[in-house]
Amino acid sequence: MPQEDCRPSAAPRQLVTAQHVQQSGGDRVALVTGASSGVGQAVSLALARAGVRLCVIGRNADRLAQTVASTRSLVPVESFRVDLAADADLRPVIEYLQREVAKLDILIHSAGIIHQSRLEQARVEDLEQQFATNVRAPYLLTQRLLPLLVKARGQIVFVNSSAGLAANRPEIGQYAATKHALKAIADSLRAEVNPLGVRVLSVYLGRTATAMQQRLYREEKRAYHPESLLQPEDIATMVLAALALPPTAEVTDISIRPAIKG
Ligand SMILES: NC(=O)c1ccc[n+]([C@@H]2O[C@H](COP(=O)([O-])OP(=O)(O)OC[C@H]3O[C@@H](n4cnc5c(N)ncnc54)[C@H](OP(=O)(O)O)[C@@H]3O)[C@@H](O)[C@H]2O)c1
Repeated sequence: MPQEDCRPSAAPRQLVTAQHVQQSGGDRVALVTGASSGVGQAVSLALARAGVRLCVIGRNADRLAQTVASTRSLVPVESFRVDLAADADLRPVIEYLQREVAKLDILIHSAGIIHQSRLEQARVEDLEQQFATNVRAPYLLTQRLLPLLVKARGQIVFVNSSAGLAANRPEIGQYAATKHALKAIADSLRAEVNPLGVRVLSVYLGRTATAMQQRLYREEKRAYHPESLLQPEDIATMVLAALALPPTAEVTDISIRPAIKG
C-alpha cells in the first residue's frame, strides 16, 4: 500500500467536542455492524444525530428496521441483513459501499456473541461460532473495506470487552480468547494504517445493559438490574467523542466500566 505523508498540519488548535462530528458529518459515511441491538444500535443513532450517513448491518429484520426507523429522518440509511459468519453475505454490503459511496469514513465493529462455560463442559462448536463472529468477521470486513477507509482517512472502532484485556474469571475462556484476538488485530492494524491516516480505536466495555447482558444474568441466575450497569448510550457518547477528535489526535483504547461493581 502506498505510504503518504500524513503529518499533522500546523493549523491552529481549538477545543474539539462531539459537535465536531456533527459539523463535518454532512458527507461522512459509517458502516455499523451489530446495528440491530444494544451498543451498535445506540452508536448508529448517535452517528445519525451527528449527521453521519449510515450503512447498518444486523440479522434480525424487525430490530434492524427499528434502527432504520429511528435514524432515517436524520440521515440517509441503507440496511443489510447479514450473517457475519457467512462470507457470501458480506459481498452486497462491500459492493454497495464500493459502487454507491466509494469511500468509508467510519467502520464500527459492534456485532458480537458470547458463550460462557467451564472448559471441561464447553462445546468446541461454540468456540468456533464466537471466533467466526467476534474475530474472523471483523478481520475480513476490515480487510475488504480498507481501500475505502484509506481513501477517506477513516476511523475503525472495535467494540471489545474488559475480557479482551484480562480473562480473570471462570467460564469466560472462549469469549475472552476471541476478544484478546480482536485486541491483537486492532493493535497491529493500527501500526499498519496510522501512516496512511487511518485511526483505530478499541473500546473495552464492562457489563452494559443490552440483550446480551440480560441473557447472561439469566444464565447466571442473578437478578438483572439494568439501571446499575453501563448504558449503550454511554458507550455511544464515548465513541462519538473519540471520533470527533481532529486527525492530529488518535484515541487508541478506552476502558469503560459500570461505576457500581459487582
Ligand atoms: N453488553 C455487554 O455487557 C458487553 C460487555 C463487553 C463487550 N460487549 C461487546 O459489545 C458488542 C455489542 O454487544 P451488545 O451488548 O450490544 O449485544 P447485543 O445487544 O446482543 O447485540 C449484538 C449484535 O450483534 C449482532 N450479531 C451477532 N451475531 C451476528 C452475526 N453472526 N451476524 C450479524 N450480526 C450478528 C446481533 O444481530 P441480531 O440481533 O440482528 O442477530 C446484534 O445486533 C459485542 O461485540 C460484545 O461482545 C458487550
